[in-house]
Amino acid sequence: MVEQTLSIIKPDAVQKRVIGKIIDRFESHDLKIVAIKKLQLSEYDAKAFYAVHKERPFFGDLVKFMISGPVVAMVLEGEDAVAKNRDLMGATNPKEAKPGTIRADFAESIDANAVHGSDSIENAKLEIEFFFSKREIC
Ligand code: CMP
Repeated sequence: MVEQTLSIIKPDAVQKRVIGKIIDRFESHDLKIVAIKKLQLSEYDAKAFYAVHKERPFFGDLVKFMISGPVVAMVLEGEDAVAKNRDLMGATNPKEAKPGTIRADFAESIDANAVHGSDSIENAKLEIEFFFSKREIC
C-alpha cells in the first residue's frame, strides 16, 4: 500500500552535512520526498512533538538535543513507506543498527541518532500534520 511517513534529519546529521546522503538513501529506495523544510524547533515545539515520551527519563535530554540546531523535516511517500523508512534508519541505538543503515553509518549515540521516523501509519498522519500544511505536500 502506498503510504506517507514523517522523517526528521536531526541536528547531529544536519551539522555533519550529510543531509544529501540521507535523502539519497530514501530516493534510491523508491521513497519520494513529497514535502521538505529545514527549521529550528523551539522548546515548545520539541516538547509537543515528543509528548508521548514526556514521562520517560530521557525526555529532557531529547528535547535539549532536538533544539540544539536546525532539523530537516520531510514527508516520504511510497509502498510501505512507514516500515521501509524504519528499515532504512536501523535500530534507535546506532550501536545496535545493522550495517548499511542510516544510523549505523551516520549516528553516534541513542540521543544523537541522525534521524527520526514515524512508527505507525496513525502516528505518521499526526506527525505530518505537526510539520506540514496540505498545500506543502505535493
Ligand atoms: P526517535 O525515533 O526520534 O524517538 C525518540 C527518541 O528518544 C529516540 O529516537 C532517541 O533519539 C531518544 N532516546 C534516548 N534514549 C532513549 C531510549 N532509552 N529509548 C528510546 N529512545 C531514546
